[in-house]
Amino acid sequence: MSSVINALNNRSSKRAYLNKPVPRDIQEKILEAAGKTPSGANMQPWVTYAVSDPAMLKKIGDAIIEKMDAGIEHDQFIQYYPVKWVNPYKKRRIVTGAGLYKLMGVDRKDNETRIQMWKDNFRWFGAQTVIFVFTDKANIDEAQGAFIDCGAYMQSIMLAAQDFGVDSCPQGSTTEFGKVIAKELEVPENLALLYSIVLGYADKDAKINTYQPQKVSLQESVTFI
Ligand SMILES: Cc1cc2nc3c(=O)[nH]c(=O)nc-3n(C[C@H](O)[C@H](O)[C@H](O)COP(=O)(O)O)c2cc1C
Repeated sequence: MSSVINALNNRSSKRAYLNKPVPRDIQEKILEAAGKTPSGANMQPWVTYAVSDPAMLKKIGDAIIEKMDAGIEHDQFIQYYPVKWVNPYKKRRIVTGAGLYKLMGVDRKDNETRIQMWKDNFRWFGAQTVIFVFTDKANIDEAQGAFIDCGAYMQSIMLAAQDFGVDSCPQGSTTEFGKVIAKELEVPENLALLYSIVLGYADKDAKINTYQPQKVSLQESVTFI
């Protein structure tokens, strides 16, 4: 089977990592390959920060968790999740979340553990590299094409990583605190954070990494005419 089909079939989001950095040359190869992602008018709207400095990652995580603890739900440039969840997407979200908590033995009503698990996002699940993807605010002012391009770029990064034996987890949780991240990273004013991707070597013994959420069937998602 081709390596692309293998990578697609074998990738899944990993949420516990070994204390092992992704070498800089591997990061460069992954991002170089992902840079070949097609984009409308070849605008390549992604502006990428690959952060492996532990002090910086801690600083960003601390700043987000401080906001969360102060009861602030988001401080964002873009609204990633739907404001009004409708079915079948609402049901899929609930089933996916419930499956993960069940696997981890977390009770449905145990909000504290759930929040703690969500906060793990901002400790990068123990991974040592996080890719933060921004775009120019002008690209997303009354236009959505850059989101499509940067989404494709996200998948390219994760599949390229897979080819180098590097695991990943995409993060919309960071989208919700995009302005905090932009401030901590001191990025230029014109940039808006879209998402991040955690990169690292998954802890194969971690139960959470065995989670394989259901995917909808071809019949459910595709209309052939
Ligand atoms: C744009 C995007 C944002 C996501 N945000 C998060 C996140 O913040 N935290 C997390 O643990 N998983 C996050 N995920 C992972 C999804 O939960 C995961 O992709 C989905 O459940 C399907 O599982 P799989 O990636 O293992 O196939 C995100 C995925 C995408 C594509």
